[in-house]
Amino acid sequence: MILVSPSLLGCNYGKLTAEAKDVLHCGADMLHIDIMDGHFVPNLSFGPGLVGTLRKETDAFLDVHLMVSDPAFVAPLFVKEGADLITFHIESDCDVTQVLDYLDAQGVKAAISLKPGTPAQAVFPYLDRLYMVLVMTVEPGFGGQKFMSDMLPKIKELRTEIERRGLKTHIQVDGGVDADTAGSCVNAGADILVAGSYVFKQTDRSQAIDLLHSLG
Ligand code: DX5
Ligand code: ZN
Repeated sequence: MILVSPSLLGCNYGKLTAEAKDVLHCGADMLHIDIMDGHFVPNLSFGPGLVGTLRKETDAFLDVHLMVSDPAFVAPLFVKEGADLITFHIESDCDVTQVLDYLDAQGVKAAISLKPGTPAQAVFPYLDRLYMVLVMTVEPGFGGQKFMSDMLPKIKELRTEIERRGLKTHIQVDGGVDADTAGSCVNAGADILVAGSYVFKQTDRSQAIDLLHSLG
């Protein structure tokens, strides 16, 4: 089964909650919320208040992608507001085991993300503890970038290792995912598709989300 997580980075910020509710109504399985600190990536985005608002106003599964240098400090801010899943980058400045221990203790699902330059093997020591691995298919920081098809072997490598160990770990892809690129991600082994500009630009968002679901 393929799950679709529209990235709110691609929505109309003037009506953010309405946009979130709209994609949920159109069949989204979760909401992808990109958090940037202006240090790990050269951009800023949302804060914990948005997650708190979405927690109160929707019953959505909140998929929080931290693009921050200090996830040990930032993750609790979002856990307190009701995040269901926290993804942090292995390239960030943190003790990975300590962050995973914290999320476990809080009962929050954990994922590790890999930037394009980071090999699949970097996450292997932690694989057994993860709900999901996020493979970035653009350099993190901005929506609307071109999909990097040279990330497909990394997805395959991860899927092979997950199967070899008999795990159920999800693989999420994020960056430039659309009707043209999603199929190759699914074929390589991804099962959670993040899509920002692709979903939010459509006039018929249900059709776009259905199309992504149908790839599974
Ligand atoms: C990029 C973010 C992505 C981004 C995806 O740093 O992590 O989630 O919003 O946007 P699109 O789908 O437009 O590439
Ligand atoms: Zn993201």
